[in-house]
Amino acid sequence: MFRSRRLHLVVVLLAASVAAAQQMSDQEIESKVNALVQKMTIEEKAGQLTQMGLTPQSSELARQGRVGSFLGVLGAKQVNDVQRGVMEHSRLKVPLLFGYDVIHGYRTVFPVPLASAGSFDMPLLEQAERIAAKEATASGVKWVFAPMVDIARDPRWGRIVEGAGEDPYLGSQVAAAKVRGFQGKNMADRDSVVACAKHYVAYGAVEGGRDYNTVDMSERLLREVYLPPFHAAVNAGVGTLMSAFNDLNGIPGVANHHTLTDILRNEWNFRGFVVSDWGAVHELLAHGTAADDAQATLEALKAGVDMDMVDGAYQSIPELVKSGKLPMSVVDEAVRRVLRVKFEAGLFDHPYADPAREATDILTPENRETARKLAQESMVLLENKGDLLPLKKNETVAVIGPLADDKASQLGPWAGDGQAKDAVTPLEGIAAKIGKEHVLYAKGVDIPGFEHGVGAGVVAPAPPSATGVVGQESGKPANIDDAVKAATQADVAVLFVGELAGMTGEASSRATLDLPGDQRKLIDAVVATGKPVMLVLESGRPLDLSWAPAQVPAIMQAWFPGVEAGNAIADVLFGDVSPSGRLAVSWPRSVGQIPVYYNHNNTGRPAAPDRWHTGYLDMTSQPLYPFGYGLSYTKFTYRDLKAEFTNARIATKGNHQGTLHVTAEVQNSGNREATEVVQLYVRDRVAPTSRPVRELKGFERVRLGPGESKTVSFSVQEHDLGSYDPEMHWIVPPGTYDVWVAPDSVTGIHGTFELK
Ligand code: NOJ
Repeated sequence: MFRSRRLHLVVVLLAASVAAAQQMSDQEIESKVNALVQKMTIEEKAGQLTQMGLTPQSSELARQGRVGSFLGVLGAKQVNDVQRGVMEHSRLKVPLLFGYDVIHGYRTVFPVPLASAGSFDMPLLEQAERIAAKEATASGVKWVFAPMVDIARDPRWGRIVEGAGEDPYLGSQVAAAKVRGFQGKNMADRDSVVACAKHYVAYGAVEGGRDYNTVDMSERLLREVYLPPFHAAVNAGVGTLMSAFNDLNGIPGVANHHTLTDILRNEWNFRGFVVSDWGAVHELLAHGTAADDAQATLEALKAGVDMDMVDGAYQSIPELVKSGKLPMSVVDEAVRRVLRVKFEAGLFDHPYADPAREATDILTPENRETARKLAQESMVLLENKGDLLPLKKNETVAVIGPLADDKASQLGPWAGDGQAKDAVTPLEGIAAKIGKEHVLYAKGVDIPGFEHGVGAGVVAPAPPSATGVVGQESGKPANIDDAVKAATQADVAVLFVGELAGMTGEASSRATLDLPGDQRKLIDAVVATGKPVMLVLESGRPLDLSWAPAQVPAIMQAWFPGVEAGNAIADVLFGDVSPSGRLAVSWPRSVGQIPVYYNHNNTGRPAAPDRWHTGYLDMTSQPLYPFGYGLSYTKFTYRDLKAEFTNARIATKGNHQGTLHVTAEVQNSGNREATEVVQLYVRDRVAPTSRPVRELKGFERVRLGPGESKTVSFSVQEHDLGSYDPEMHWIVPPGTYDVWVAPDSVTGIHGTFELK
């Protein structure tokens, strides 16, 4: 026993020292990078800065060392074949970096990011991205175009689904957790990928929610709200960033020297590389800031975009250098950044993927288990009047609606290499939970596509599941009568309504937030049966539900839950798990309220219920459900808030050394075990600029048994209580601050503290 332990220790130590020896120091990397740059022709340099899709022509160019990266090449064999072309034929044998969109999982598809951010569970998010990295690398992908960290306050924008919602603090925590998960301990590990924080920057603020649109924004809003998640990703060591499509104050994202160089490089010391978004360098012609690809290349490269995605514009680099328009030093710097990441990613030591891992590492039961857990934690219980939920396992349930057995939509948009056939539908999950004999199924209605197409990113449709449960036979057209019949025969009806996966994501903005097609008619008809009815909403954005609380007692937002959708939904509906997900975005009552977000400034006439002039004549200015909101199957009581600011300032002026300490007691005053997301909000009462009415500064998931209580404590560094003064210097104003420990962004227990 002792011997084998000692042997084990020796093996571990040996392995560790081998790993350390393999890991190159920064200095070694710099000298290797420089040596390589010196050997390169200008064509080879332009090649390193060029990303392409795979065609016979581009694969030939790669063999000549004229391509730096491919995107969308999947499968260890294919990746290795292309890589071999470079490693065996090109002059300098600089390995290719293979990139892909792994937005919420690779083959094991997790809930869409807007949903999983609402779990407020950073360790679990990190674990999910670790799994995504493991699966992606098994398939030869070494670089993921994720995390998408755009703050978004406009649910019309289809891409709101890809990010962590409206709040810069939550967004920053999520960004860092995801980078840690993707890149692991070391980007060079065989199961780690290079992450890419995107889309830099302010893409989430496109006017009117129309994709790719213009953004006009103050430097204050940019720095206080839209930049922090990127900064957090950089601080977490992200290897790359992707520039955004939108123009910002007139300067397209791909040509914005202020954001790409002044801020990213000079202020944040980012040392990785920046890739353009798809075709965005060439799009400078359409933006109207460049007359041709050569000028576009000059603008983008000089601004700080190192690699050009797919449009081939950077092929004009050699000519630009030869004609003296582009200094070689600019090109060299970009090449250095790309090579540095390739060295840090271990590509020179391990250019090839290990094909054996494809069979062992992808879609494993353990990976699915994590997907199920994250899906459980992402669901948000919006209404539960009369404690309709949890449902009883021995009752007959009518499972109704167009999404109840739609496999593809469970995965959501941008579903990596996800396959619809892997997804568990709600119908399957419920049947597995309570037995087929307790389930009656009717689709009721179809969801038709929109006039201008359902949108991008639709997963290939799969046949409906074959659970053999009572109800609609496949092939029979959807029919509301069937739904009414099923509801009439059941004890309770659960309606699965919402959007198809392809109705959210890129190029999938909407002008209305209505339930598409005849879904309202279906709901009305089922409600008219008089049976208890609940809605499970599946969508990639808040939809207009203002009518719903008056019509149905229970509503759960399931978003697009991923590959384990049906199981996770059934776990929550039948009470094996109490819901704990929270809204990462405010839920508007109507499109007319947009943008509506919790951390707005006060006006000189703050909103109040008796002040008609602060909102609309026909509607309050408050959202239907606020940021941070979500119900549980138990009740939590908050009491005894204590807030104290201790100042450990070490005399140096301008040094922010103090800490805010906040504690509060949270009790589970109900009779089931559950998890509460306890949130800390702060408000600076008097500052040189108008400050948000509340700002999230901390959160903790607290699991409590019936009757159990816990003192939850938060610490906030003085620096993080600050804001920009009118001259855009970061300050932490002295004076009185409000503080709340709360279950959401509008309620909670209140206290104050003095910052001296
Ligand atoms: C365009 C999208 O905006 C971006 O998010 C994505 O990574 C690239 N296409 C590559 O697919």
